Amino acid sequence: MTGLPEGPVLSVKGLVKIFPRRKKAAVRAVQGVNLELQPGEIVGLLGPNGAGKTTIIKCALGLVRPTAGDISICGHNVGTHHGQAIQHASAVLEGARNIYWRMTARENVRFFSGLHGLDHRVHRDYWESLLERFGLADRANEPLVNLSTGMKQKVAVVCALAKRTELVFLDEPTLGLDVETSHELRGILREIAAEGHRAIVLSSHDMDVIQDVCRRVVILKEGQVVADDTVENLLALFRTRAYRIVLSDGLSAELAGRLAAVAPNHSIERLGNQTQLTFTLPSAAGLYAVIDIVRQGGAVLETITQKEPDLEEAFLRVIKGGDAA
Ligand SMILES: Nc1ncnc2c1ncn2[C@@H]1O[C@H](COP(=O)(O)OP(=O)(O)OP(=O)(O)O)[C@@H](O)[C@H]1O
Ligand SMILES: [Mg+2]
Repeated sequence: MTGLPEGPVLSVKGLVKIFPRRKKAAVRAVQGVNLELQPGEIVGLLGPNGAGKTTIIKCALGLVRPTAGDISICGHNVGTHHGQAIQHASAVLEGARNIYWRMTARENVRFFSGLHGLDHRVHRDYWESLLERFGLADRANEPLVNLSTGMKQKVAVVCALAKRTELVFLDEPTLGLDVETSHELRGILREIAAEGHRAIVLSSHDMDVIQDVCRRVVILKEGQVVADDTVENLLALFRTRAYRIVLSDGLSAELAGRLAAVAPNHSIERLGNQTQLTFTLPSAAGLYAVIDIVRQGGAVLETITQKEPDLEEAFLRVIKGGDAA
């Protein structure tokens, strides 16, 4: 890979995938998705189970034929020039089945990079540096069957990176890993992202992984993009509207009912004599309405703080039909 390519590394336009089913309604897995990645960009794909993340990745790799739409990788159309397009992409699909468990990590790396046309004499040093970086160098001559789930998963990621493509798809790379290994993998991915040499599409259910590694996040719901923004912007949108109020007293059922009308996602918690309200408002002006309700109830307002939202909260709001998109 020499220098960064011109133009988007990935361009997905009007992607639709409908899976027909016998005697049942067809599954509309992807319904008009547009997505573009610039060189070196790291994008997180978030969405509930069945949102279409894996289908989009498989369509981009030419493993699933789209019902409609166009996908290009580094300017090569995946449908019409698959061979050229796929030269610029590598992937780890769900469950890391793209490696051979009877072979060692070194053999896997050499085998799959070889299939991709890479000469081991030229790239061996780079592969060794990857094995080292992923903490696999000591076990790189053992068949993968002897290695733990986390190590196998790391080998799969190494095999994808070893091809040195401009675009890498990682579908749930931390699934099934323990906290420590997930953390370690996340750290390495963050470093690789920071180098800026390659664009990465990373799908994960783990918000921490996305928040840690990706600058931009695309949220999918029922096959459609419902948000496409930087992680920072998504969080900022909710930061301004997430509040915590502590009252010196309880809140009557009547006032709690009125509160629900203003802040539908609120929660009320008793802390000794105090009551803590947490809520996210549809608009900043709603705060005055909440304060009015509290004042009418006669409770003394001890503190108001703006809560620091995390990506999980932002995600749930967007998915529930919030107003972030
Ligand atoms: N080969 C297939 N045949 C029929 N339906 C399919 C097929 N592959 C996926 N689907 C359906 O398409 C929808 C999208 O699935 P997809 O695997 O893309 O979701 P996902 O966002 O990756 O979900 P998860 O988070 O569970 O991995 C689902 O309803 C799924 O059942
Ligand atoms: Mg999936």
